Amino acid sequence: MRKKIVAGNWKMNKTPKEAMELVAMLKDKVDTDNVDVVFCVPAINILPVVDALKGTNIAVGAQNVYFEESGAYTGEISPAMLEEAGVKYVVVGHSERREYFAETDETVNKKVKKILEHNMTPIMCCGETLEQRELGIEIEFIRTQVKCGLAGLSAEEAQKVVIAYEPIWAIGTGKTATSQQAEEICAAIRQVIKELYGDKTAEVIRIQYGGSVNGKNAAELFAMENIDGGLVGGASLKEEFAQIVNY
Ligand code: PGA
Repeated sequence: MRKKIVAGNWKMNKTPKEAMELVAMLKDKVDTDNVDVVFCVPAINILPVVDALKGTNIAVGAQNVYFEESGAYTGEISPAMLEEAGVKYVVVGHSERREYFAETDETVNKKVKKILEHNMTPIMCCGETLEQRELGIEIEFIRTQVKCGLAGLSAEEAQKVVIAYEPIWAIGTGKTATSQQAEEICAAIRQVIKELYGDKTAEVIRIQYGGSVNGKNAAELFAMENIDGGLVGGASLKEEFAQIVNY
């Protein structure tokens, strides 16, 4: 039985002071007994949020990392820095990073490997555009994203990765995929994992759905056989996030 995982992706929201307020509001409201809960916060908020969450089972995630250990990479943050700061999860390959910050399948793969090397869990995002869906090539596209992102990983390593299926047309639009649409793709992702790594890995790897998840639709989405929780953007900044976690 896979444990559900619900991660809030705060994106570029909340100053350090506002982050403290949000954590204080949410931390006692989310049930961490049955669900792994993660707050993926802006880099500048990582240290204070780790501190504020001490004594809880809520994990802190980063939204990005660089794939080199150290050196002349102005503005970047290394995996060792995140690890030492207490980060447990790192979002990688979010469609916003692919679109605005030139993230590619190749850099996603390099980052996934580095994150694992540093004992953190990658939340590796994939998802199609509306155009790809209309052309009927969404499954083919996502299969390629998943294969490229996991390239070179052993089955044991792949089992640690969390995959987030986020159709781009559903992100921040209020237009959630139906639970059937989301389930179809998450099942297809599990099928690729099976082809690559066999039954056991396909059985244990966790696959989230993301894209306008809210307090109303979470229960139905998370009840689907192949959906093991969610990656939540907008609704993770509100009290509603507790409702999603406690679905
Ligand atoms: P949304 O974002 O929940 O605001 O649609 C999801 C995400 O981008 O992770």
